[in-house]
This record gives sequence, C-alpha cells and structure tokens, in this order.
Amino acid sequence: MEARLSQLLLLVLGALWAGGNTFETHIIGGREAAPNSHPYMVSLQKAGTHRCGGVLVHRKWVLTAAHCLTNRIEQLRLVLGLHVLGDPSLTYRIRKVVKHPEYKEAPSLQNDLALLKLDGKVKPSRTIRPLALPQRRQAVAAGARCSVAGWGLTHQGGQLAKALQELDVHVLDARMCNNSRFWNGDITPDMICLAANAKNQAPCKGDSGGPVVCRRGQVAGIVSFSSKVCTDIFKPSVATAVAPYTPWIKKTIRR
Ligand SMILES: *[C@@H]1O[C@H](CO)[C@@H](O)[C@H](O)[C@H]1NC(C)=O
Repeated sequence: MEARLSQLLLLVLGALWAGGNTFETHIIGGREAAPNSHPYMVSLQKAGTHRCGGVLVHRKWVLTAAHCLTNRIEQLRLVLGLHVLGDPSLTYRIRKVVKHPEYKEAPSLQNDLALLKLDGKVKPSRTIRPLALPQRRQAVAAGARCSVAGWGLTHQGGQLAKALQELDVHVLDARMCNNSRFWNGDITPDMICLAANAKNQAPCKGDSGGPVVCRRGQVAGIVSFSSKVCTDIFKPSVATAVAPYTPWIKKTIRR
C-alpha cells in the first residue's frame, strides 16, 4: 500500500515534470503578495541586504532558521512591516539569539530554528502583528495545502524579489520524501517536505527562515533547505515543522 502510494506520487510528480507550465516569475514561480497581507513577515538583513525571512511570533521575538545566523548580531537588523525591499520600515537590532540546542549543520540541517529577541517591543498594528504558534500535537499531514512567503531569488542564479512573494505548496509524504530517489535519509520526523503545484515553482535562496502557513493564522513551518537547483523535483524544499518545538519556543520566550 505504501509502496503503491509512493509510486503514485512519483507518477504525479513525473507528470508535473513533463507537462507543467514553464514560466518563472517569483519566489521562483510565485506571485506578489497583497501589501501587508503577511503582517508577521520579517526580513533579516545584513548591511541593508536581505538575507533570510523570519516570523514575528511574539511582541519581542522573531522565529527564523538557525542557519541564517552566520554573522555577528551587531551586523544584523530585523525589518518589520515591509513589502518592497529597501522601502523605509520599522527596523530593530537583535538583543539576543537563541539557536535550538540540538541544531546541527552537518551532514544535513537538523532542528534548524532560532529565536531572535528584538531590542524593543512591537506595538501590534494593521501592518505588524505576531503570528500564533501551533499546539504541540498539531502535526501537518501529507497532502495539506500551505503557502510560503519570502523575498528570495525569483530565478535560479537570479536576484532577490523586490516585493514580497507567495507560493501555494502542498505537503509531501515524509517517507517518500526521505527515500533514496529523494532526500535519501535526510528527513527527520520534525521536517515538512513541500512541493509546488507546477514545476519551476519553489522557494529559493533568501526564502529560508520564512513561514509556511497551512492553517490560517498559524505558523506551521520555517523554510530550511532545498537543493542548489531550487526547483529540482527530486529535492523538494524542506521546512522545519514548528509544532514539535512549540514547548521550546514558549519556554525560551518566558525565560
Ligand atoms: C529518514 O531516514 C532516516 C535514515 O534511515 C531515519 O533516521 C529517519 O527517521 C527517516 N525519517 C522519517 C520521517 O521517517
């Protein structure tokens, strides 16, 4: 039964590969989000350049991917309420970085989450507002429909998006995503594999750290990694599921 399900999914993916549309626009293949429709969206920047996405999950805290934090925190800024990169917007310094204690970079990323404490407190408004955390047991099922948002590359080897992009994706079966044709054992039970509905659509460099939203008003995942060729259908993009980490996030914020 499971083998058959995998085969079926492979066939479906094969069909998308062969017959999907070929235009590329943004995220890769996404669409421009309505301005301020993602009021929890954060741009993590170094020297005015966007590096990663992030999600405001509390008036003082941003959730992002741990692998985004390769610079000293004095060099980084968090920009909130932004739609077009470079537009003037509310900017915070980072007071504290808390990477997940079991974050691992190699052989593949694991527990790729970090909490960033703002050096101030957000006053919630129409354009800047935290997104709720899921309950610990709120797993995201295969087949669930989600969306990702980010300012990442709009073409392979191309440039960052100017305006925030969003893309509809669905959750792949984790065992299939983990098999030898796909991520070959790199997928842990705390990850979510995502596929777009057509080929030439995928999150790409610069979308890491951004939110995966499956139920309205809740952050289900944080974009973590994909292949160098972002749209490689045998290397679907992978997010860290947030629900298993909700207790750690709440504990860190309370402390
Ligand atoms: C993927 O495979 C690895 C290695 O066999 C295993 O440790 C891991 O738990 C698997 N992940 C899932 C989601 O089953």
